[in-house]
Amino acid sequence: MDSVKDYIRTIPDFPHEGIMFRDVTTLFASPRGFRMAVDQLVAPFAGQRIDKVVGLEARGFILGGAVAHQLSTGFVPVRKAGKLPGAVIGEDYTLEYGQARVEIHDDAIAAGERVLIVDDLLATGGTCAAGISLVERLGGEIAGCAFVVDLPELGGRALLERLGMPVVALCAFE
Ligand code: PRP
Ligand code: ADE
Repeated sequence: MDSVKDYIRTIPDFPHEGIMFRDVTTLFASPRGFRMAVDQLVAPFAGQRIDKVVGLEARGFILGGAVAHQLSTGFVPVRKAGKLPGAVIGEDYTLEYGQARVEIHDDAIAAGERVLIVDDLLATGGTCAAGISLVERLGGEIAGCAFVVDLPELGGRALLERLGMPVVALCAFE
């Protein structure tokens, strides 16, 4: 058990038949695994100016909060529709298994702020691309997008790289 990947559990047929669900709760539950993951997400950005970490609901909140603490930045949640109490802007997007909409408070990022987006997993890239769009609509600049897991067959990394985004992923499942 010496790499982040070793701590991730796979659950077949969740939430639908045919989906191999990469379950990071086993990583989060391990003191060594969780620290390794957060340290490795932070390392590529440690020397850079980062003003805010944006975490994508829900598992991106757990990682993003820890990353923001370690980088001494603020933390901003991107949430599923209808959850944030203040004035929001929103983006619709497509998931590996469904449709969704995400929102951000319209005053959460100031123009010119440099933002690191954090989530547990990159699949189609739809969630992250929606998060990027929200940040950019508020005038923020994306410093990078950091994930524990990449599912390269679903094309998310390729999509984000086409958008010019620096992408960090700690492991991949083919
Ligand atoms: C999962 C995962 C990412 C997203 C990745 O979240 O945590 O946020 O899907 O998929 P994509 O790259 O195809 O957009 P999910 O939407 O299942 O939400 P949850 O974390 O609230 O369960
Ligand atoms: N989100 C989208 N696809 C997923 C997968 N295969 N495992 C875990 N979370 C996901």
